[in-house]
Amino acid sequence: MQLMDNYQRRFQYLRLSITELCNFQCQYCLPNGYRPNKDHHFLTLNEIDNIVSIFTELGVHKIRLTGGEPTLRRDFIDILSMIASYPSVRDVAVTTNGSRLLKNVHHWHQAGLSSINISIDSFSPHLFKLITGQDKLKELLQGVEKSLEVGIKKVKINTVLMKNMNDKLSDYLAWIKQRPVELRFIELMETGESQDLFNRYHLAGHSIELQLIEQGWQLQPKQALSGPAKVYFHPQYLGKIGLIMPYSKDFCKSCNRLRVSSIGKLHYCLFGDAAVDLRDLLASSEQKAQLKARILASLMIKPEKHLLHQHKVGITPNLSYIGG
Ligand code: 5AD
Ligand code: SF4
Repeated sequence: MQLMDNYQRRFQYLRLSITELCNFQCQYCLPNGYRPNKDHHFLTLNEIDNIVSIFTELGVHKIRLTGGEPTLRRDFIDILSMIASYPSVRDVAVTTNGSRLLKNVHHWHQAGLSSINISIDSFSPHLFKLITGQDKLKELLQGVEKSLEVGIKKVKINTVLMKNMNDKLSDYLAWIKQRPVELRFIELMETGESQDLFNRYHLAGHSIELQLIEQGWQLQPKQALSGPAKVYFHPQYLGKIGLIMPYSKDFCKSCNRLRVSSIGKLHYCLFGDAAVDLRDLLASSEQKAQLKARILASLMIKPEKHLLHQHKVGITPNLSYIGG
């Protein structure tokens, strides 16, 4: 079985948010910290199991756990082991702010975690604190080293680009010279709550791309189903640089991802105007046929592209809700 939409895009990759809770206060996401919404009850282990089961039957073989901060869940290791126990899942991934990495990555690896994306918005402790509200850069970087040490297959760093804040390329290059890590610059995206910040700090990733090319970096040919990042390599660097430029032309053409939020809604686009509630069908595996039909129907209305250029940001107030 293959999931495909009306624009011939194929989907083998699910991003699954398992909590909205977060212990950081990133300026572009939760500047005032996480505020609980008492109507939101996050997916249970059993519901997550049923989601993974149905999506693997539909041809998905990569699952990324997101949040909020997914590793804050007490049953995080159980979730990892459960997902890793599906033979058809080739990649169990997590996007994390890294706050629990150093102490726990060893156990996560044992439970079956194969890829980690760690958000590090600056390599300067001062700037890092200014952007995330947390004075934890040193510990996080130790956590990255530990992830490589314990044998996590793919380690990536996510850096949200902010104009005149963390946009000096040379600050990052030294770090990836000797480390086999892909550092990805993500263009700041506008959300319902972040218009002012967006206007002030948005910087097109293209400006970084030009500098890379000037310094001898080369574009890596796109692999099939590799998603929207543009990846550059350089013979003198072990690490790579990826660029995620949602405002660039044709960005959505290579969209390969589907998202389920921590309250069980299928979002067919990060910036869509609607989401399809799956929750009433997640409690037992007996409702699989209905669940499958609902997922297939909702894929047919996945839009061709987002309307961010017209400042149509969709229903998501910030990305802690569905994990970026
Ligand atoms: N624009 C771009 N990236 C964002 N993230 C969160 N909010 C935004 C935004 N407004 C990123 C985080 C993290 C991932 C989960 O999403 O930095 O890397
Ligand atoms: Fe937390 Fe991630 Fe949002 Fe930062 S971007 S506040 S780490 S959910």
